[in-house]
Amino acid sequence: MQKSLDAPKEALIGGTWRPLERRFPVVSPATLEVVAEVADAGPQEAEEALEEAVRAQRDWARATAYERSGVLRRWFELILRHEEALARLMALEMGKPLKEGRAEVRYAAGFVEWYAEEAKRVHGEIVPSQFPHKRLLVRYEPVGPVYGITPWNFPAAMVTRKVAPALAAGCSFVLKPAEESPLTALYLAWLFLEAGGPPGVFQVLPTSDPVAVSRPFLEDERIRKLTFTGSTEVGLRLYQEAAKTLKRVSLELGGGAPVLVFADADLGRAVEETLRAKFRNAGESCVAANRIFVEAPIAETFAQAYAERAKALRVGDPLSEETDIGPLVNEQALRKVQSHVEDALSRGATLVAGGEATGLFFTPTVLLGVKPDSLLFREETFGPVAPLSVFQGEEEALRYANAFPVGLAAYVFTRDLSRAFRVAEALEYGIVGVNDGVPSTPQAPFGGVKRSGLGREGGRWGLQEYLEVKYISMGL
Ligand code: SIN
Repeated sequence: MQKSLDAPKEALIGGTWRPLERRFPVVSPATLEVVAEVADAGPQEAEEALEEAVRAQRDWARATAYERSGVLRRWFELILRHEEALARLMALEMGKPLKEGRAEVRYAAGFVEWYAEEAKRVHGEIVPSQFPHKRLLVRYEPVGPVYGITPWNFPAAMVTRKVAPALAAGCSFVLKPAEESPLTALYLAWLFLEAGGPPGVFQVLPTSDPVAVSRPFLEDERIRKLTFTGSTEVGLRLYQEAAKTLKRVSLELGGGAPVLVFADADLGRAVEETLRAKFRNAGESCVAANRIFVEAPIAETFAQAYAERAKALRVGDPLSEETDIGPLVNEQALRKVQSHVEDALSRGATLVAGGEATGLFFTPTVLLGVKPDSLLFREETFGPVAPLSVFQGEEEALRYANAFPVGLAAYVFTRDLSRAFRVAEALEYGIVGVNDGVPSTPQAPFGGVKRSGLGREGGRWGLQEYLEVKYISMGL
């Protein structure tokens, strides 16, 4: 392992760190300095990793559930032991503030722990037969080698949320991490090897050319599953490619979450939870609150309290203990955020907090009176901008919330139990936080409906994505 940054920087193929002459820079969004030059894998390394994954799959699938569980358990413990190093890497490579980074490492480790336990509970079933001489058995088998593509916004948790259930199920896994955040993924892979993970079971291909590296995996029949977290646009293209070899597919795509704050809500709690739902990870999350609707009687009070709290958030160096909001990941992200704010202002919205950019830092922004046709309400902003708008009554709230082609997460604030159920059930979303701004947790299903994707990650649902059903009819 290379030590200068205390993180590996080579591709992991089989069980070996492969030094490559081709490199690409990982740039800190906070300082715009190069943090590391990382191995730039290409189609040849992809082919090699593919063969290794196919080879490793056979033995890993044959290992007992207890052996697989043991490796995952040791990996979990090592991840926790390396919390600080991983949090620092995330701060450096994609600008996540240290305290959020530490929380993400614990979240990421939580998936590994949960699936270490669950590996031992992949029970088969016996189905009653109408014939006395037959026994009908159902067993669950690993789907096969998996190719996974993870995003930069949660560089640790999005890796373990996919890799841990795949490994628990007995699949091998080749990961292509985001160009912006390969270091965290490589560090996690190093910990996997330290935990006794067999060569080829978990491999990592950092690359600046995702299309070229992904092609062999998408085209090869032996790769039986594709899992991707990222934009709806890329997800749709991958879905089409994967269809050609009829792979199993999990897609965790765009969000654009609505928040509905009813007049009967606990106001203080609604403000705090909506603040978390919006500004966690600087708004760079698929489940980030994208559109905040407040019922007319409390709209002004809510907006005032919300803007005050947003102004108090500290923007700055992600390596500082005080920082709440780090930089946006890159120039393109900043431009999108700025264009959404400018568009809303040009349509008559009022800026009550933030709106200022320095380098890639953007101050927490609150806008009032945002019109429904604004970009902020039509696209996922993926930044620290909170657009507030007013609604009258439950019917209108639901109409606004569901008028979006995506359906990942939605949030409701109310103290009326009947309303909570009614609205949660009527929302066309895969995840609903009722009086809860951060519902994500390893043991629960994470995923969306409509253009937000296919399948679920987390909990027992996440494991099923990596299992095939085999039926054995036994004549006596
Ligand atoms: C995401 O943004 O895709 C992940 C957010 C989460 O796990 O809460």
